[in-house]
Amino acid sequence: MTLILGIETSCDETAAAVVENGRWLRSNVIASQIDLHAQFGGVFPEVAARAHIEAISLIVHEALEKAGVTLDEIDALALTRGPGLAGALLVGVNFGKGLALGRGLPIIGVNHLEGHIYSNWLTEPEREIVFPVLNLIVSGGHTELVLMTDHGTYQLLGETMDDAAGEAFDKVGRLLGLPYPGGPSIQKAAQNGDPMAYDFPRAMLDEGLDFSFSGLKTAVMRAVRPPQTGKRVAGVESMKSGEMRPDISIADVAASFQAAAVEVLVKKTVQAAVASDVTEILISGGVSANGPLREAMKQAAPIPVRYPPLSLCTDNAAMIAAAGYYRFVAGQRDDLAMDILPTWPLNELLPYNGANGKG
Ligand code: KG4
Ligand code: ZN
Repeated sequence: MTLILGIETSCDETAAAVVENGRWLRSNVIASQIDLHAQFGGVFPEVAARAHIEAISLIVHEALEKAGVTLDEIDALALTRGPGLAGALLVGVNFGKGLALGRGLPIIGVNHLEGHIYSNWLTEPEREIVFPVLNLIVSGGHTELVLMTDHGTYQLLGETMDDAAGEAFDKVGRLLGLPYPGGPSIQKAAQNGDPMAYDFPRAMLDEGLDFSFSGLKTAVMRAVRPPQTGKRVAGVESMKSGEMRPDISIADVAASFQAAAVEVLVKKTVQAAVASDVTEILISGGVSANGPLREAMKQAAPIPVRYPPLSLCTDNAAMIAAAGYYRFVAGQRDDLAMDILPTWPLNELLPYNGANGKG
């Protein structure tokens, strides 16, 4: 049995988890800073770093305790090395290095996006994952279609040209005066809305596998904002939260926006999956929590679709530990001098050998 302790502090969750053999969750502890950042309508980097420092020690000990293990039973530490906020990443990586130094444990630097991918290895662990698979990673910072032919072997097939899908949900949520983060708020508001009330653009729908969400966001802004007077026409960023025409149905706008975003995500993912002849589609990242996205993907895909339980969609350390496990068994050991990589594209990871290519 191999036990990996994962630590994740790349954005606004302080998280630690223990995972057995890369697929079985022993504990998964998350301290969310959402309440702290809600007042700013987004993540405030300095505030995030300080909150990580305050929480990290307690969270790591809680993860060990809930797993019923001590550090002596842990085989390696998997630490989120990037991408993410520099000050936030440093807290988790430095804390992990301290533990590793004190206990003589190996550390493994993990890419946060690779982590999201591996959240699906923790999903129905008894059902094998057979390569090749297609990953749709949809989070607050990324929208990527990634073909995976083996553990650690990735080919980027498409990505967003501007805003990430989650970012679009967050910005539209703010426009509509809904609580942060926008994703869950929009899904909730959309329940009572008409998805066909507004014909919002489906950008680049028939143009390859890249995405664009900034036009959709702008179209929503044009539909809801009060008539503009004066010379300067304000952009989305400068529009105040909830500054809308009084006759707007928030539910209809939310439902129509969500329908447009989901349609593009589903169509391109299915197209990529069929073209690359994969066995399964894996959806991950915060936006994979979206109910209509999950349902529409299952409806449209001619192959199985897997997505994590809600607790593993948004940022967590279990996914980092799972990804770290496959690197551990392949022999990866990082130096204690390992630095953080705040901008670290997934396709710049080095492939590795050793794992057998099966989940
Ligand atoms: O993966 P994540 O926790 O953090 C990043 O790595 O970015 O993703 C957070 C994103 C936010 O943009 C949030 O609005 C979105 O995931 N999100 C959702 C839902 N739940 C979270 N978007 C749509 N529908 C949801 N139910
Ligand atoms: Zn994430």
